[in-house]
Amino acid sequence: MYPIMNRQAVLAVAPVGRLHVDHVKTISAAISARAADEVLVRVIYAQIASGTRAIMTHTTPFPMTIIGQPVFAAVVGEVIDGPAVGPAPGTMVTGFGGWAEYVLIPLAGVRPVSVETPLHHHVGVLGHNGLAAYFGMLSVSEAKTDETVVVSAAAGGVGHIAGQLARIAGARVIGITGSAAKNRVLEDELGFSATINRRSPTFASELQATCRDGVDVYFDNVGNPLLDKILPLMADHGRVVCCGAVASYDGVDDNVKIPGPHGIPQLIINKALRMQGILTSDFVRKWNHALEQLAAWTRDGVLIPVTKIWDGLDNAPQALVSMLAGDNLGQVVVQVGSEPS
Ligand SMILES: NC(=O)c1ccc[n+]([C@@H]2O[C@H](COP(=O)([O-])OP(=O)(O)OC[C@H]3O[C@@H](n4cnc5c(N)ncnc54)[C@H](OP(=O)(O)O)[C@@H]3O)[C@@H](O)[C@H]2O)c1
Repeated sequence: MYPIMNRQAVLAVAPVGRLHVDHVKTISAAISARAADEVLVRVIYAQIASGTRAIMTHTTPFPMTIIGQPVFAAVVGEVIDGPAVGPAPGTMVTGFGGWAEYVLIPLAGVRPVSVETPLHHHVGVLGHNGLAAYFGMLSVSEAKTDETVVVSAAAGGVGHIAGQLARIAGARVIGITGSAAKNRVLEDELGFSATINRRSPTFASELQATCRDGVDVYFDNVGNPLLDKILPLMADHGRVVCCGAVASYDGVDDNVKIPGPHGIPQLIINKALRMQGILTSDFVRKWNHALEQLAAWTRDGVLIPVTKIWDGLDNAPQALVSMLAGDNLGQVVVQVGSEPS
């Protein structure tokens, strides 16, 4: 039956300072009429991404979340209705929608997905975060056997996949996180060679000791202040992959300029470093191949995706607040609707 009302978690007010659950409110509103080229999707899982906080107030390559509109997010769910040339009702698809029970997505932005993997993987390892890790680590960084690769926010949605891909490429992987418990999982279960707690009072000396022979690749999810500490440790011809800048998303006013790393360009020149941003949209033609490889590695147990699932749309704001505070391991998703039986 065609739904009439739609529960949605909408941005109530643009956050100033740190995100609080009251910045988002849950409302019920009538579903807008579907345009001819739109697909109506019943959302089963919505992604919780640290970038979700950025697009509430900061300029990024993604559309900003508008006050009164569902918080913008990748979703996976079931087609309810759409143009005859599109996926049939009942097909599982992914695309960018929002925190809501139902979303309308332009047909061009909808991608049918396999139901042979856990459905939530399509907003995690087989979604935007998996693609960022894949292209950032395997295309941009060109990490090689026996090289030293450092990953920041290494236990997060992107980081825990990026680190494992470096391990698959044969590199020695060092993860930086904010907790000893996360570090144990990275070393004991996900094959990281070493880890460092960024909150440790001896962080700088531990970093230096662990990267004694220089860092060949730094996969940066955080931006300053970690970038400032790692740049001087880069090896000659090292590569810095700029994937994200989570340290500047929450509690930082977009109008306030965050100080950038020191020593540029001299450090870049002295060591012939390469520093490059990664945007998954630059690799659209290679997405299918990447997703097949990520799915195969996951199926074979070489790559181990970790997911934290929050239950219910009402918990989406708390899930994001917790993630920004570092209280997450692996990909965070919220289950909005039930999986088909
Ligand atoms: N370029 C692209 O195409 C692309 C695509 C997807 C995501 N991204 C980027 O990838 C990064 C990771 O995204 P995600 O969704 O997977 O988030 P996430 O890593 O799962 O969660 C964010 C983590 O960042 C760490 N963190 C938070 N504040 C910090 C601070 N002030 N300093 C240092 N670390 C801090 C925390 O981990 P610890 O406490 O353990 O350090 C937290 O758990 C983000 O920067 C995002 O924008 C980029």
